[in-house]
Amino acid sequence: MSALDELRAAAAGCTRCALAAGRTQVVFGVGDPHAALMFVGEAPGYHEDLQGAPFVGRSGQLLDRLVRQELGVDRSQCYIANVVKCRPPGNRDPRPEEIAACRPYLDEQVHLIGPQVVVTLGNFATRALLGTAEGISRARGKSYRFGSVHLVPTYHPAAALRGGGDMVAEMRADLVRAKALLGSRPSATPDHVPTPTGASISTRGEPVRGDHAEPLQEEP
Ligand code: URA
Repeated sequence: MSALDELRAAAAGCTRCALAAGRTQVVFGVGDPHAALMFVGEAPGYHEDLQGAPFVGRSGQLLDRLVRQELGVDRSQCYIANVVKCRPPGNRDPRPEEIAACRPYLDEQVHLIGPQVVVTLGNFATRALLGTAEGISRARGKSYRFGSVHLVPTYHPAAALRGGGDMVAEMRADLVRAKALLGSRPSATPDHVPTPTGASISTRGEPVRGDHAEPLQEEP
């Protein structure tokens, strides 16, 4: 069993937060376990909770289409996960304690998969990984150094479905930005790069916890 499968098995029985009580199943993540490109969304919704896979509803269809059209790959060639692995009741926003309880799973997924680029989908994933309070409209349009990984924030596809053509066009531009970063690693970094929430990851890709507050590592 691979380390990622072991982590999935551990997550399947997780009771670290109250969401465990209401879930049908844990939605751990899907795709290529060695993907160069990883997407991180917010939390499973109704369909994801039933099917056990992220982004299988309408917003997932948009994501799949944009990934195919702008990156020329399908979802099985990427890895897709969420910040929170269990469905919040009534699709409410995940709470800080739920995000914190689930965070070690996401950190370990990033470590084990070792993507070159992580695309965060929407406010929750962007804020969690960049450790910023900044909203997605301000954070997107740039890339950031996230340890040994490029991080490209973009809108959540559900927001783009509501927002229409301009937002979808901006999402496309963000995916083009992500594509251009594939095949490279962020420029030389110190051993560990802290993020403002106190999470930090090593340049070897190993997530570690820290207690620093540093400015965002925006790339030139
Ligand atoms: N929205 C998310 O953020 N993740 C999913 O898996 C589905 C909808």
